[in-house]
Amino acid sequence: MSIQSFNPPVRTLMGPGPADVHPRVLGALGRPTIGHLDPAFVTMMDEIKTLLRYAFRTESPLTMPISAPGSAGMEACFVNLVEPGDKVVVCINGVFGMRMKENIERCGGIPVVVDDAWGRALNPQRLEDALRANPDAKIVAFVHAETSTGACSDVKTLVGIAHRHDCLTIVDAVTALGGCELEVDSWGVDAVYASTQKCLSCTPGLAPVSFNERAVEKVRGRDSKVQSWFLDLNLIMGYWGGEQKRSYHHTAPINALYGLHESLIMLQEEGIENAWARHQRNHLALRAGLEALGLELIVPEAERLPQLNAVSIPGGIDDATVRGRLLQEYGLEIGAGLGEFAGKVWRIGLMGHSSRTANILLCVGGLGNILSSLGVPVDTGAALSGIQSALSD
Ligand SMILES: Cc1ncc(COP(=O)(O)O)c(C=O)c1O
Repeated sequence: MSIQSFNPPVRTLMGPGPADVHPRVLGALGRPTIGHLDPAFVTMMDEIKTLLRYAFRTESPLTMPISAPGSAGMEACFVNLVEPGDKVVVCINGVFGMRMKENIERCGGIPVVVDDAWGRALNPQRLEDALRANPDAKIVAFVHAETSTGACSDVKTLVGIAHRHDCLTIVDAVTALGGCELEVDSWGVDAVYASTQKCLSCTPGLAPVSFNERAVEKVRGRDSKVQSWFLDLNLIMGYWGGEQKRSYHHTAPINALYGLHESLIMLQEEGIENAWARHQRNHLALRAGLEALGLELIVPEAERLPQLNAVSIPGGIDDATVRGRLLQEYGLEIGAGLGEFAGKVWRIGLMGHSSRTANILLCVGGLGNILSSLGVPVDTGAALSGIQSALSD
């Protein structure tokens, strides 16, 4: 056998995630592993909780990372909050809303689906109508930043409607956290989950979550046991430290948590509002470049995410050919369309450490050159100078 050590090729990650990991985070991951109950490690866990509260804009003590990717954050919210027979209104405008529905069903809940258009923000009126028609609903669930389309929904308004109908809220902030405004406490979000590989510039594999008092009451008042032992909040909290002393639950992914700690320190150094502003500024620069190439963003301007840009593929151009050439010739990864957008859009991420000028120039330059070689009449030079002028505005 001559299998060698794996040395990944150098890539620039501008797809829907993972995004580029910051070198400081990569450096932190390689520090010596210590015991997960070592007092030094326990101190670092407390710091992660403090830093996550900063990122989520919450004071809730039940804020910590689940030791698994964003999908486990999703499951943690649903398995703890949805009991068999609970009616849950789920608003769907893309792939990840569909996964929420699947979670509700697997928990024995009864999903009430509010189907919204893909590529658009969720329509608050439709949620209002669904809640009027289902006064026995207990929970409302939806995605803040729909990574499959690039649409950003109005969390504050949707949560306000849910609360007026006496429902708890579960919000997916996987792509939102660190990339656009998210105010967990002042918007009243009851349970929220995220992921580390998007706008936090960290590696995949951890799912920050936060639950407020109302959510905790619902978990404590359950008639049935949480069906997942690993994701049972009562047990996880015993490990991550609540009122009680820490007790062993599972072996934390120690080095991965070093990485998250470093990425959250970087977020604090930048300032979360500055991070949101950087994502918006770079989005406008990318948009200027793409539009100068004649490419259109599919989401209406007021509903666009800065960190995920879905672009229509010009007629006659093969999706996979262009993405393949970007990867081979430029070392650049962008994303394909999902679901009903497969083959019709590219998804260009500007998340976390990927949200920077050099990446925008590489992406627009590479796309321009490839499209031109395929016979699309584009002026790549004009697109690159469009980026520069958007950045100097
Ligand atoms: C909106 C959204 N929710 C959930 C997930 C699942 O996260 P993970 O892939 O980390 O399990 C993703 C992943 O891209 C996502 O974009």
